[in-house]
Amino acid sequence: MKNNNRLIIVSYRLPFSFETASGSTTVKASAGGLVTAMKSLDFSEAREKPVWIGCADFSRRTWEKYQHLVNDDFEFVPVFLERKIQQNFYNGFSNSVLWPLFHYFPTYVDYQERDFVAYQKANETVSETVAAVVQPQDIVWVHDYHFMGLPKLIREKKPEATIGFFLHIPFPSYEILRILPYKVKEYLLTGLLGSDLIGFHTNDYNIHFLQSIQINLGVQHKIWKINYQDRLIQSDSFPVGINYSLYHDAYDNEDVIAEREALKNAYQDTKIIFSVDRLDYTKGVMQRLDALEAFFARYPEWIGRLTFILVVVPSRDEIQKYGERKVMIEQAVGRINGKYGTLIWRPIVYRYGSVPFPQLVALYTACDVALITPIRDGMNLVAKEFVATRKDHQGVLILSEMTGAANELSTALHINPMDENEVADKMKQALEMEPEEQARRIAIMQRRLKDYDVKKWANSFVESLLNMENTQHKDPTP
Ligand code: G6P
Repeated sequence: MKNNNRLIIVSYRLPFSFETASGSTTVKASAGGLVTAMKSLDFSEAREKPVWIGCADFSRRTWEKYQHLVNDDFEFVPVFLERKIQQNFYNGFSNSVLWPLFHYFPTYVDYQERDFVAYQKANETVSETVAAVVQPQDIVWVHDYHFMGLPKLIREKKPEATIGFFLHIPFPSYEILRILPYKVKEYLLTGLLGSDLIGFHTNDYNIHFLQSIQINLGVQHKIWKINYQDRLIQSDSFPVGINYSLYHDAYDNEDVIAEREALKNAYQDTKIIFSVDRLDYTKGVMQRLDALEAFFARYPEWIGRLTFILVVVPSRDEIQKYGERKVMIEQAVGRINGKYGTLIWRPIVYRYGSVPFPQLVALYTACDVALITPIRDGMNLVAKEFVATRKDHQGVLILSEMTGAANELSTALHINPMDENEVADKMKQALEMEPEEQARRIAIMQRRLKDYDVKKWANSFVESLLNMENTQHKDPTP
């Protein structure tokens, strides 16, 4: 898709960070899916390169001094929030209210008025930055739960702007949203209704959103179209994909081959079950460990013949619920290793830290089973990455039915993460599955992931945004 519009991306994180070691500063580009997606959009006919607006996790001074080191695919515009606002906006309202609530953890919600005020302030500040940058013919694409108020705030400043919003986490049932004070719900829902197009990962999330605006605001909708304040808004599902060829081709990468050989050597006497997640209570790591215990109790013939490699990547560690989770996981790992381990074998190999790309792909491709058990997950890209890497068509995916990805990954072994006996039984089924059956299941899922990759996702969202009737018939002057 080519077009002459300029793209303005807004996301909480900018796709790079500065690193200072032994007195010298370097830039580390993020390898995340969002950058790949945004780079894949063909805006080559636009007058200017795309703009990316996000919150700075560095100082103004660092930016002034080192911005020339950042790659120039985008024009980056960092927003510098006051420290206290930034904290209460990110750790507070975004990650201690919206995150737990939208993942169905209402008892983890810690609602503080000052955090909601900071969220509004941060959205207001970012909307001013967007309004100062946006020009006629630009399209603005806002990402994720940090900026649910933003579409409305931009619309108030630039009534004719073309605005898309995509939510990367689940949108919960209206019953869950009810827990929030009315003014908060109103702010979030009317905030989103400032968009021309609102995207979710799945149809269910879309339906939950439509029910929420109907019940809370009395706003009507018909077949994904919403009539609101004389504007037509569309809401739809766009399941995010991955950079399929990057993961698929990595199977033959030299570093990956070397890492894979090393792993296979190290674990030649056992089968391997692997999982990797950000440290988050939504990921169901404790339930996974309970299931492993249930597995050894039900199938003791596997004791000594299976290694579970558990990688947990640090995340949001200033928030109490995250710190607590780390302690819980580490205690459970110690307990299970103490209970079942022998002098020459440990059931769980635990790593707390991030793993470089070649090692990650080596783990994906050396394991026999990927065990992915979130209690809720908007999509879950780890499941998709695992499947994509298996050029050998081997390996079994066990996947929680509570993930957005379960809809697409239909030939995975689906489980309810709360049912430890079911997970244990599926682990046995996976470990004993015939190679032909593994290949059949992987091939079906790979076809889907290849066809609907991250580029397709980004392009279909932008195409829908540009095709909106109300955006086509607008006066081009914002
Ligand atoms: C989820 C969210 C993203 C977020 C990521 C990492 O995938 O949808 O918006 O960037 O988690 O979390 P963090 O808080 O470190 O940005």
